[in-house]
Amino acid sequence: MEKLCFIILSIFTLCSVAPVAATARMLYVNDTGIPVTQVYKYACHPQRFKDLGLNIEHFTYCDKSLSYEVRAKDIIDRLSLEEKVEQLGNRASGVPRIGLPAYDWWSEALHGVSDVGTNTTFFNDNIPGATSFPTPITLAASFNKSLWKAVGQAVSTEARAMNNFGQSGKSFWSPNINVVRDPRWGRALETPGEDPFVVGTYASNYVRGLQDVEGTENTTDLNSRPLKVASCCKHYAAYDVDNWYGVVRETFDAEVREQDMIETFVRPFEMCVKDGDVSSVMCSYNRINGIPACADHRLLHDTIRGEWDLHGYIVSDCDSIDVMVNRHHFLNDAPEDAMAQVLKAGLDLDCGEYYTKYGANAVNQGKVREADIDKVLKNLYIVLFRLGHFDGSPQFEKLGKDDICSQSHIDLAIEAASEGVVLLKNDNNTLPLDAQKVKKVAVVGPHANATKVMIGNYAGIPCKYTTPLDAFRQAYGNDNVYYAPGCPDVACRDYSLVFPAVQASKKADAVIIVAGIDTSVEAESLDRENLLLPGYQYELIDQISRQSTTPIILVILSAGGVDISIAKNNSRVSAILWAGYPGEKGGQGIADVIHGKYNAAGRLPLTWFENDYVNQIPMTSMPLRPVKELNYPGRTYKFYSGSTVYPFGHGLSYTTFKHSVVTTTRSLSIKLNKFQFCRDLNYTDGAKAPACPGVLIDDINSDNLNIEFEVKVANVGERDSSESLLIYWVPPQAIVDAPIKQLVAFEKVFVPAGESVKAKFNLNAGKNLGLIDYKGYNILASGEHTIVIGENDASFPLHIEIEEYVFNQED
Ligand SMILES: *[C@@H]1O[C@H](CO)[C@@H](O)[C@H](O)[C@H]1NC(C)=O
Ligand SMILES: *[C@@H]1O[C@H](CO)[C@@H](O)[C@H](O)[C@H]1NC(C)=O
Ligand SMILES: *[C@@H]1O[C@H](CO)[C@@H](O)[C@H](O)[C@H]1NC(C)=O
Ligand SMILES: *[C@@H]1O[C@H](CO)[C@@H](O)[C@H](O)[C@H]1NC(C)=O
Ligand SMILES: *[C@@H]1O[C@H](CO)[C@@H](O)[C@H](O)[C@H]1NC(C)=O
Ligand SMILES: *[C@@H]1O[C@H](CO)[C@@H](O)[C@H](O)[C@H]1NC(C)=O
Ligand SMILES: *[C@@H]1O[C@H](CO)[C@@H](O)[C@H](O)[C@H]1NC(C)=O
Ligand SMILES: *[C@@H]1O[C@H](CO)[C@@H](O)[C@H](O)[C@H]1NC(C)=O
Repeated sequence: MEKLCFIILSIFTLCSVAPVAATARMLYVNDTGIPVTQVYKYACHPQRFKDLGLNIEHFTYCDKSLSYEVRAKDIIDRLSLEEKVEQLGNRASGVPRIGLPAYDWWSEALHGVSDVGTNTTFFNDNIPGATSFPTPITLAASFNKSLWKAVGQAVSTEARAMNNFGQSGKSFWSPNINVVRDPRWGRALETPGEDPFVVGTYASNYVRGLQDVEGTENTTDLNSRPLKVASCCKHYAAYDVDNWYGVVRETFDAEVREQDMIETFVRPFEMCVKDGDVSSVMCSYNRINGIPACADHRLLHDTIRGEWDLHGYIVSDCDSIDVMVNRHHFLNDAPEDAMAQVLKAGLDLDCGEYYTKYGANAVNQGKVREADIDKVLKNLYIVLFRLGHFDGSPQFEKLGKDDICSQSHIDLAIEAASEGVVLLKNDNNTLPLDAQKVKKVAVVGPHANATKVMIGNYAGIPCKYTTPLDAFRQAYGNDNVYYAPGCPDVACRDYSLVFPAVQASKKADAVIIVAGIDTSVEAESLDRENLLLPGYQYELIDQISRQSTTPIILVILSAGGVDISIAKNNSRVSAILWAGYPGEKGGQGIADVIHGKYNAAGRLPLTWFENDYVNQIPMTSMPLRPVKELNYPGRTYKFYSGSTVYPFGHGLSYTTFKHSVVTTTRSLSIKLNKFQFCRDLNYTDGAKAPACPGVLIDDINSDNLNIEFEVKVANVGERDSSESLLIYWVPPQAIVDAPIKQLVAFEKVFVPAGESVKAKFNLNAGKNLGLIDYKGYNILASGEHTIVIGENDASFPLHIEIEEYVFNQED
């Protein structure tokens, strides 16, 4: 989404009329005829109308006693066609004639208020920075829903405070919730990983953190529910190839089976809309089975707005319509055709200039109705009303500079970084480091003094970094920390720096190697070609392990998995941690885990594949299941059965937990009535199919299919610690194409040493145990299901019996 800036910049220069107001700035011409910019906190401000020479009483849309629906209609009815289309781009021009202010829809807040968007001047001397939390892949690793929401709340507080100074919008095109189908995808850092359920759960919690106004969560008319800021789930859908050997997102046609669509690609979006009540969804550049995502009526209008009942607007990825015309050459469209098609498909807002440039022509040429334009405007204005754009938001007006980079937000950023660290290896309990034995450390590796690397992309300007080096210097004193980067940069092509790093490690009681990759390797528009550490990074680790005797702690910064089998196998490498890209306080978060100030409890949100995986399957192959004819392995933990460096969900602890499970649900029995039929499933050769293999979930009443259980987690070790409880469902054996297992619930619990806690779970067979079959049906299978806690820490079988209806003589 960055390329648009050039186009937007050229619009700026072309645009001689000046309504370039940031959100809170309203431009007007005073009675001397001189344009004046005045900060008003909302549009329907009586003085603002006076300044504009307008009588506010004449503008029904400012009448607070009326519904948003009626008020939006009043705005729309006052506009000419030309004025209408000018409001349909990311930079809505406003219409001073009727007091309608300009509005810039494009701001970003992926993990903190970002400076990506139309306006490149979000930060200045007035507000120089905002808290940069860990990137979503790191947040995901915490498996802590409360944390995801808390980060969303902190980010939206800072956003509102910035908006009060006109330094950010109120609508944010975050989060990115595409599933990481392939470990090479360059944008993994922006996402919560490879599991659709985790991704959807992250989305709904982060969105609620951003959007919800405390005390108004239960507003019954969701189209009038106030919004703290508007959030946006993107990029819909099947968007997860950026640039792989020249296959680029703008022209990629994703060939996707409906089965994968329902089960994987669309699922997080459904959760985001239904559970998160998000106010926007963004459609993606790519085509899906030939149709550009933004032009797909079924995907936009029928699904998002119809089935899921979106309260908000659908926006295009930036320049998507242009991409559709000039890159996809879809239907050999003229711009007006394309404009009409996407509008009719359900696209409300164009990040780009097609709507504004060609909208009036398309209507005049009879390709689209003006009434359709009215509809999308209504969707847009209702969101602005909900944001307080017209009436103000008294509860947020007091937010100021003290609310940005506040101590509580910085503390949350540190805690989030620690919560996101995953302990992959810890031989002989090397970690946490023993303060009695370790008095001086060497901090080496290309990321030892990482700054920008830690905040990934879609970041802003952070308040203040704490690099790993900073954090260790604080802990041991400057003189007791030997720093040697070992590599000039992440590419690490200069071997000569390895030796000084080895020397540094020899002087220390422990060496911390901070290695990995960064956005020069994995980023938007840049997919990976392999899963290896670049350059001489392996040699750096190897040389230190051969030449020094000190304990080695390897810390990896990356989003996608890295093949570190060599380090995993090397008995000299005592401990390995993965920290993702941990945000501006990442160094502190990592050091706190290494020192046991926070006891590691993160889990991998994606599979760490061995490098050979990339030779087995092209990135462009979309199916999640193995493709036998082509010898392609399956994708993600749900369908990949081969060996891994570390599996999805892996993560060690400094303590020892014992799990046991208590349940009253051991079996469920379903008796079909005469309108319900048994459904077939494919079974592996030789396996005996049950008499009634399954039933359509839509056909049955799920109310009696609850699965209640309690997991008791006993901390039998010596350290207090949180634990990520991951609950999987394993479908009955021998059903062809069923997932190997599937995460169905997770909770984070804190258990003091020597104590135990109980976590209650309430699943439902209809909601959680559906198998999406070959044809896209959602089926509950009969047979022996299993509920598994963690990496087989505990489990229980669940027998599901489905009995066919037998017609008797009375029927
Ligand atoms: C961008 O932000 C600056 C600083 O607040 C403001 O002066 C300018 O008008 C804004 N531009 C747009 C296009 O919103
Ligand atoms: C109109 O705006 C100009 C520029 O800010 C200012 O100098 C002038 O005093 C204003 N006139 C009135 C009547 O407010
Ligand atoms: C989850 O995150 C919240 C918010 O940061 C934190 O207060 C809580 O302790 C975490 N839960 C556990 C069990 O670690
Ligand atoms: C919203 O409703 C739920 C369920 O009735 C209730 O538990 C919750 O306290 C309510 N929240 C507010 C803010 O009123
Ligand atoms: C650490 O544990 C390994 C086995 O896991 C053992 O071979 C090695 O000797 C131990 N090292 C130390 C320093 O205790
Ligand atoms: C660490 O990085 C910061 C920011 O780039 C830089 O100012 C500082 O000099 C670096 N420290 C060392 C020891 O190189
Ligand atoms: C690591 O060890 C495993 C198990 O012994 C072995 O299969 C694998 O080939 C080794 N990998 C490397 C890179 O040494
Ligand atoms: C079984 O799989 C085949 C393809 O291998 C498919 O044609 C058929 O529809 C499947 N049957 C069921 C009941 O899913």
